[in-house]
Amino acid sequence: RRSFLTTGATGLGGVAVGAAASALLFDDHASTPAADLVTGLGTTAVATPFPHQAGISVPARQQSHGTVVAFDLVATASAGQLKTLMKAWTAAIADLTAGRVPAGSSEATDTTALGSGPCSLTITVGFGPSLFGKAGVSPDARPPELAPLPAFGTEQLDAARSDGDLGVVIAADDALVVFHALRTLTRAAAGTATPRWIMSGFSRAPGSSPDAASTSRNLMGQLDGTNNPTPAQPGFEGKIYVAADAPTAWLRGGSYLVFRRIRMLLDSWDAQTTAEQERVIGRHKDTGAPLSGGTEHTPVNLSGQNPDGSLAIRGDAHIRLAAAASNGGATILRRGLSYDDGLKPDGQPDAGLLFLAWQADPNHGFIPVQQHLTRSMDALNRFTTHETSALFAMVPAPAADGYLGQALLE
Ligand code: HEM
Repeated sequence: RRSFLTTGATGLGGVAVGAAASALLFDDHASTPAADLVTGLGTTAVATPFPHQAGISVPARQQSHGTVVAFDLVATASAGQLKTLMKAWTAAIADLTAGRVPAGSSEATDTTALGSGPCSLTITVGFGPSLFGKAGVSPDARPPELAPLPAFGTEQLDAARSDGDLGVVIAADDALVVFHALRTLTRAAAGTATPRWIMSGFSRAPGSSPDAASTSRNLMGQLDGTNNPTPAQPGFEGKIYVAADAPTAWLRGGSYLVFRRIRMLLDSWDAQTTAEQERVIGRHKDTGAPLSGGTEHTPVNLSGQNPDGSLAIRGDAHIRLAAAASNGGATILRRGLSYDDGLKPDGQPDAGLLFLAWQADPNHGFIPVQQHLTRSMDALNRFTTHETSALFAMVPAPAADGYLGQALLE
């Protein structure tokens, strides 16, 4: 009798407590102490995939915790201060992602993550449209792709929790490691920039599922990420990363991040039948298979029909309207985080998706897809509200002796 704990995946999800549990979960002949199964999680460091920053398509498996933070420059911030900040962040990120106490703080004063390894920490930094025109950054240097996003129907945006001069995505397999990185960057910014908003979310813990490569679920209970582009697919680099010969020289190797806090109206969602929920998305909830047939990764057949001649994937189904084929090839890499922030004042869950979409150009990515979802009345719109929005040009990885954003700032 074997349990999935002996198949090679870490067995966090199968670990239960007590004697009955070990009888249930462990191989009769090869029982393994639970603690050993997650060894290695803390010591894992993510190498920078030059010329890209880590945290976009690397690591392939999303870390289990993440915080997205926007900073605004203080009104008096000078060009020199901005440059100094980017140098300080570059050095801190190199230390933190290697699991070292950042230079400038000592183990005596900075004990927050003492004893923790890097836990696959990645920190990804970018510039918002509002940076241009401040701290010596010329408004003319702003690429056309970094124009503020257009207004979309059906959104109810909170301006105070949207936008920002600098955007940072911090992710790791441990919430304390993420928090420590946030505090370190915030301290380094003192006098130059202050946090404008901070939002945190989570993804599946490594090992919580016996199949580490399987798709994880969002708070609506759907497999989310099935039809994401993958680095192995032809054209992936060009769709997600700014090309090596792109006109905006300082952003070559970078990527654009569209961030949306999308609240899920979970009480209304839960009141639907499973069949209706499946029609809203166009996929089965349990397996993730498209309603046009097959299994989870069977290509979607948008013209497939039911026996009665109706479309298998309804006209307003989310995957029909969001598909690249329905949007002139527009492609995004979605790496969302679930969030659960308790209750809204009306007692409804304040929960949903911190939606992160990565692309080489938002005009061939998020913008046309979101316009289509809005104008063609995506069936999912009835169960979601976009509450905040931000766009950042995420810069390329710094050269070995350089710093983040150097090609723009020097
Ligand atoms: C696909 C959920 C918002 C773009 C999917 C799928 C689910 C899903 C379950 C099918 C599985 C998959 O391929 O990942 C959600 C939820 C959302 C949301 C719960 C909000 C809370 C958005 C937004 C966009 C978007 C705002 C872009 C503007 C896409 C794309 C696909 C997709 C491009 C793949 C379609 C395909 O090619 O088959 N989404 N989504 N989604 N979604 Fe969303």
